[in-house]
Amino acid sequence: MTLSQAHWEKIRPQFDALPYPNRPLDENPSTDPDYVAIHSYITPYYLRNHHVPKTEGKWILDAGCGSGYKLLALAIANPGAHIVGVDISPKSLELAEQRLAYQQISNSSSFHCVPIEELPSLPYQFDYINCDDVLYLLENPVAGLQAMKAVLKPEGIIRANMHSILQRSSFYRVQEFLSRLGCLEGMPTSEEIDMTRQMMDNLQDWVISRQQTWASNSEKNDQLILSNHLIRGDKGITMPEFSQILQQADLAFISLVDWRSWHLEKLFKNMADLPQTVATQITEMSTEEQIHIYELLHPIQHRLLDLYCGHPEQSHECSSVKAWDEALWQQATVHIHPQLNTEAFKAELENKAEYPGLIPFNKYLKLFNPDTVIDSSFAGCLHALLDGPKMMSALVQRWLQGRPLNTVTLEPTDPEKAFQDVRGFLISLEQAGYVMIELAGS
Ligand SMILES: C[S@@+](CC[C@H](N)C(=O)[O-])C[C@H]1O[C@@H](n2cnc3c(N)ncnc32)[C@H](O)[C@@H]1O
Repeated sequence: MTLSQAHWEKIRPQFDALPYPNRPLDENPSTDPDYVAIHSYITPYYLRNHHVPKTEGKWILDAGCGSGYKLLALAIANPGAHIVGVDISPKSLELAEQRLAYQQISNSSSFHCVPIEELPSLPYQFDYINCDDVLYLLENPVAGLQAMKAVLKPEGIIRANMHSILQRSSFYRVQEFLSRLGCLEGMPTSEEIDMTRQMMDNLQDWVISRQQTWASNSEKNDQLILSNHLIRGDKGITMPEFSQILQQADLAFISLVDWRSWHLEKLFKNMADLPQTVATQITEMSTEEQIHIYELLHPIQHRLLDLYCGHPEQSHECSSVKAWDEALWQQATVHIHPQLNTEAFKAELENKAEYPGLIPFNKYLKLFNPDTVIDSSFAGCLHALLDGPKMMSALVQRWLQGRPLNTVTLEPTDPEKAFQDVRGFLISLEQAGYVMIELAGS
């Protein structure tokens, strides 16, 4: 048996015994638009390329798919894509396959009992690889990422995450303690789970390991204990270590998945009051360095360092829409984010004709900037976008139709002013993620 095989044999029994996540087959897939949006190939592709790809016919891999719950989100978020699930646990794969069949998912799908490290043995190349809550279990995350890169199409994107060692340090201490008692070897047993439960219950309330790892729901839930205190092969790292792993696998960082929750400036009461040298150094840091500062200052928030990456050749700097001149704007095509294109949002916009006010985007898609403030004067343009992407000129036209006269002077609305107004709305919406704006030929 090779070292890798020995490692897989250490990990597999846990997930054969209790496939993850432990959710019944008839549990409906989450249709929360924020959850769907992070499983969409469109979201990271737009972040990197400023282009909105089609999902039909794309190849999507869930690497380490477990019992397949996230395969459902991948299928819903990527209509018409082929979905492939791989895992080393036959029991998990069996459930994943049954789950997709039970939920009557229309995407084509296939399942393979293959370790991530051996992905190149499959006859596929992928547009998007989702490797969620798996990389920290691999013997060598660099080898895992290299294998994923080998089956990634040139424009493909990988989503991968590692546990944050800073956020999770209390679990690593408890794991170390339990392994000294002979736990965390081979197939997990109910005796091991019961022993952990009794031991944790018996710790004084003031003991830090109890305070930080023993929430009320852990006491009841075997899977939480198995995923945290008794997880086999769990590894945590810091952001600089993750950057190094990406570099070793020759992959380029694109963005954090939930990058809006990592804004360093939110940690300070007022950035303007920082000593000048500190403020300058922070603003000059790379995104990855800023993430590290965030995790050093506030490590409790994020269990995962969760990111998108891809082939380095693809990582060209896209200029921000804020910097575009008028000529570029004239070529722009605007798309509404697919997860905002719902009947409920349409009704909200139509309601605004009668009851003007702020558009509560936050009610429909929270992942993006919840503070975006756009009033109902832009509702008509957004409504037009629900029917399909529109050129900037068509949106300006739509705006002018809705407000042909200046409401105060009753002079005809100046088309140049209309252009600037529409541009202003679109910049705010694009920065928040609610619309995506691409240039012809991008
Ligand atoms: C914590 S579960 C995550 C499942 C799923 N990705 C999710 O987030 O719901 C980890 C899964 O990775 C699988 N796994 C671990 N090491 C693997 C490897 N080297 N190759 C393929 N799958 C692996 C396990 O069998 C398990 O099903």
